[in-house]
Amino acid sequence: MTYQVRPLGPGEQQLAWDLGSLAFGYHEQPMPEGWASDSPSRRTLGVFDPAGRLVAKAVDREQGQWFGGRIVPVGGVAGVATAAELRGHGLGRLVLTELLGGARERGAVISTLFDTIPAPYRALGWEEVGALVYQRVPARVLAEIRPDATTTLRPATEADIPAVQEIYREVARAGTGMMERSGPAFAASPTQVLADHHGLTVAVDKTGDIVGYASWDRGPGYDANGKLTVDDLIGLTPEATRTLLAMFGGWASVAPTVLIRLGAADPVWSLLARRDATPESSQPWMLRVVDAPAAVAARGWPRHLTGEVDLELADDVCPWQQGPHRLVLSGGDGRLEPGGAGTVRLTPRGLASWYAGAATPQQLRRSGFLTGGDAGTDELLRTATAGPAPTLHDYF
Ligand SMILES: CC(C)(COP(=O)(O)OP(=O)(O)OC[C@H]1O[C@@H](n2cnc3c(N)ncnc32)[C@H](O)[C@@H]1OP(=O)(O)O)[C@@H](O)C(=O)NCCC(=O)NCCS
Repeated sequence: MTYQVRPLGPGEQQLAWDLGSLAFGYHEQPMPEGWASDSPSRRTLGVFDPAGRLVAKAVDREQGQWFGGRIVPVGGVAGVATAAELRGHGLGRLVLTELLGGARERGAVISTLFDTIPAPYRALGWEEVGALVYQRVPARVLAEIRPDATTTLRPATEADIPAVQEIYREVARAGTGMMERSGPAFAASPTQVLADHHGLTVAVDKTGDIVGYASWDRGPGYDANGKLTVDDLIGLTPEATRTLLAMFGGWASVAPTVLIRLGAADPVWSLLARRDATPESSQPWMLRVVDAPAAVAARGWPRHLTGEVDLELADDVCPWQQGPHRLVLSGGDGRLEPGGAGTVRLTPRGLASWYAGAATPQQLRRSGFLTGGDAGTDELLRTATAGPAPTLHDYF
């Protein structure tokens, strides 16, 4: 059968709702008025059968994520679905391969996604590099944390939103893979930001500066099932982190459980015993390099690392980036030039893991994602992308 792959038209948004709502379990809901799969930051690609039926789809989201202190342009993939009767017949591969080409044309250099199952994406070169994890912590544990006497807490006002966003950005900039919360996908006004959560609390130091914040939601009930969900808890100072965390201890009588979104190396861990926290949910996310030379140029690299490695990139899904390339690092910048001896061979999943700093060359070799090279190339490649573990706090 011949299928047509093309962007959805304005009159075809209902088709995307129907396919997506059936796949993701909200089919009983009518399409909300004004809902559209497409927006300035989202393009939906559809696969149509000869009868004009939408049989598969995927969305390319325009977003930026921080790597090495710079914002890298990303094609965030969402809403991937194939009609139930046609799964396993190559339509997912078809739409995702086209999506990668289109994302590259509009300037995305890597692609990320939250996977419900890794296999279809691994087959196309994405690899899991991290997970968005909510930890379950008893509120009574937090009640034992003493707040700092010089730090005050208050509800944020609209005027505080720029400071709150800058605090998030400061942490995102120093992280690996954190979302840049600006651009068309995050066009929220201060009023909308405040409306997004039941509580947005700021921590103010004795000079009056906002040095931390927490965004949180109160779940229903006040019995043993009462819960509080904390999406962000970011303190720029130890005092702010401690005082914000202690605040959630004050809920112990009516919301005995606090669910808190935490990266593996969050400073909050310095105030918790690991045995007091258990993962409540874990949503893995994957990365793929879409345009290797542009991806190398876009991210930041260690300023004190100078060196070159000859790579051989295998990639039959994004063939424009396969072949021998020389990686040149100097003064915090990176270049990937065509040519060289192809000493270190990387599969697409190997390239993804290495780029994200999710695995060392030795681990990649043991996974079969990297071959060739020696201790010297391993050390340079390892140091080049070493950094905080990939962490993403925004589900999409
Ligand atoms: C996930 C989904 C979109 C895959 O679409 P599809 O059209 O069935 O995928 P394809 O037939 O093109 O398969 C692509 C590759 O993934 C592999 N694959 C697909 N589904 C798989 C599964 N359930 N388990 C293992 N491998 C799978 C195929 O073997 C194929 O690999 P290959 O090309 O190397 O042989 C489809 O199963 C679906 O709609 N699932 C329900 C919604 C969903 O989970 N969406 C994903 C959200 S992240």
